[in-house]
Amino acid sequence: MTERVFASTALFSWYDQHGRDLPWRRRWPELAPAYHVWLSEIMLQQTVVTTVIPYFLDFIRRWPRIEDLACAPLDDVLAAWAGLGYYARARNLHKAAKFVADEWGGEFPQTSDELRTLAGVGPYTAGAISAIAFGQRSVVVDGNIERVMARFFGVSTPLPAAKTEIGRHYAAIMPDKRPSDFPQALMDFANAVCTPKGANCQSCPFADRCAAFAAGTVEAFPVKPAKKAKETRRGIAFVARSHSGEAFLIRRQDSGMLGGMLAFPSTGWATRGEIFDSEAALTAAPFPAAWRRLDTSVQHVFTHFAVEMEVAVADIDPKADVAGLTIPGDWRSVRPADLPSLMRKVWKAAQTAM
Ligand code: ADE
Repeated sequence: MTERVFASTALFSWYDQHGRDLPWRRRWPELAPAYHVWLSEIMLQQTVVTTVIPYFLDFIRRWPRIEDLACAPLDDVLAAWAGLGYYARARNLHKAAKFVADEWGGEFPQTSDELRTLAGVGPYTAGAISAIAFGQRSVVVDGNIERVMARFFGVSTPLPAAKTEIGRHYAAIMPDKRPSDFPQALMDFANAVCTPKGANCQSCPFADRCAAFAAGTVEAFPVKPAKKAKETRRGIAFVARSHSGEAFLIRRQDSGMLGGMLAFPSTGWATRGEIFDSEAALTAAPFPAAWRRLDTSVQHVFTHFAVEMEVAVADIDPKADVAGLTIPGDWRSVRPADLPSLMRKVWKAAQTAM
């Protein structure tokens, strides 16, 4: 273990001056309701704070208590979630809400181990809830805290193997004081000062003890694993529009990508680049029609791969034309807010052509 001393008092002074006021946040010794902490943490997985704030406020306005969320129809929750992405999170959110309401009488469990029995709650989120909502001295290491630790202690092991070492450093420097503020102060500090690029080391109270700063290699930490290029998958989406302006939409299966969300029928996007034949793919249309392929395609990047989606459009009179329908779906007026981002892009592309 290194002899470097991490001055948590300096961190708390920084937080008292510069920490963000966020709607799910309280300052020690006050603790935020576990429902708010949990909801915000699930929303913040893979989504930035500024995007999350209006969603968080909307959820707690519509469903002020976890029991309210547990009783809400899943469809309403998914629709309210649309735009945050990663819909498995929304389905897990609803499942966990039911679990806490039914099995825990609406009171969240307090320990990391118990919290991990909730759907969608992994080690980081469990640690965050137990520290932030219950004031426990738990290890809370998200990607931002990871960066601060890796730099300060000069952790040269690449991620993800470095996680264990970083967790040990965190446990070693965790103060007894202000256990709910400590991880949140580190997160804000990482966001404002110890940023991925262009870190603001001049105003860092720890720079004189930071290994990466001493070595002049701040941006080299955390050490990333060798990068694999993201593969691009291709597919074609079918936008049929009726004369009254409605479009044909399906509800995707619960499991898998964009599970349970509204979508335009498509070939999916499992097809790898070279073997995708968009002319042949037209035969996968939900019904025979005068499908027109647009010249431009829609690009979307998921966590592990990118999608290039072609768009085929057709103007249809549903009463007269829809013979040979191959899949269940409905004619609906399209509200982009109810669609996942990829499908919003498809809709936008289709509209420019219709
Ligand atoms: N990111 C994840 N959790 C957070 C929190 N509680 N405060 C600020 N940023 C966060």
